[in-house]
Amino acid sequence: MQTIAIQEKIPCLDLRGQHQQIKSEIFTAFEKVYENTAFSGGPFVEEFEKHFAAFCQTKYAVGVNNGTSALHLAMLALGIGVGDEVIVPANTFIATAWGVSYTGATPVFVDCTPNTWQIDASKIEDKINSRTKAVVGVHLYGQPFDVEGVQSVCQKYGLYLLEDAAQAQGAQYKGAPVGGFGELACFSFYPGKNLGACGEAGGITTDNERYYKHLLSLRNHGSMVRYYHDMVGFNMRMGGLEGASLNVKLKYLPEWNKRRREIARRYQMGITNPHLQMQAQPDWADSIYHLFVVTTEDRGELIKYLNGHNIYPGLHYPVPCHLQKAYVDLGYKKGDCPHAEYLASHCLSLPMYAELTDEDVHQVIGVLNSYRNA
Ligand SMILES: Cc1ncc(COP(=O)(O)O)c(C=O)c1O
Repeated sequence: MQTIAIQEKIPCLDLRGQHQQIKSEIFTAFEKVYENTAFSGGPFVEEFEKHFAAFCQTKYAVGVNNGTSALHLAMLALGIGVGDEVIVPANTFIATAWGVSYTGATPVFVDCTPNTWQIDASKIEDKINSRTKAVVGVHLYGQPFDVEGVQSVCQKYGLYLLEDAAQAQGAQYKGAPVGGFGELACFSFYPGKNLGACGEAGGITTDNERYYKHLLSLRNHGSMVRYYHDMVGFNMRMGGLEGASLNVKLKYLPEWNKRRREIARRYQMGITNPHLQMQAQPDWADSIYHLFVVTTEDRGELIKYLNGHNIYPGLHYPVPCHLQKAYVDLGYKKGDCPHAEYLASHCLSLPMYAELTDEDVHQVIGVLNSYRNA
């Protein structure tokens, strides 16, 4: 029997290490925002937009107040509204579907594959009808979905492709960064994301100038010239403090993503317990491991065991979108998306953040391997 020394608590995510490391740089950036009173939009947001577009290799980036707004505005920019349908994976965070619902359109949920846990491109065609306008692919947990598989269905039926890249800043599909594969791509800079603002923020990338200009106006009360409103718009600008913090953090993102990949490799090589399954990693996907999700038959037992060893995993996500109460009127039932349902009741997310030490990772692996083998 292996003996495991109990160490300090290891949570699923801890933001303190990262923020201690860059505190003085962030505070200097905040001071500049303060001195310029550039609190809403402004030069610090514009600077971030420029750098983030370059990072994603797209022509444009538009900063907004959060990732949910990014999805909402992206849908509006594509002209989606009442009577339209948009195909969305059942296995994602619910905000992917909110963007559709806010416009009055209907999300149509499609199952994930049983091994990559991403949208199943082969199941999309069955969901298409004359009302279908777009497909949202989600680079879930930081791993790119089957972009070409989904693109080919979109091309065949003349549908828009939108990337939900909220969890995938810096992930690559066939060597190219996510954010430039669809008409538009949406990002979240929620503090817990790989690139998270000190506050709430989001963004949209595109190569299309028409969408870009439309989005600039939509986020700013439908206005490009102050007090002249060309359309019904929203107040969804990114804040200056958020933009300034993102400017600092973007520089560190490649280094942080590299460390996440290193930790993931250790988990992949080190965890040998047959009671756990990991996400399949197709050759074309270079994940940045926003989350490291595993499945197991008896999740409750494993969580208790981990907690007993001071390890606190997360759950992403316990209820698939099609079975959420908010969408009960759409009439989905258990069994409609069996792989997403399996994941919801069997998944757990291992500790994953760049500041985890090698000892922490070793500890997590050791405890997982001793589960049911003790
Ligand atoms: C896949 C996905 N889409 C959209 C969002 C929404 O982003 P935000 O929380 O910034 O509104 C999130 C964030 O949690 C997400 O994980």
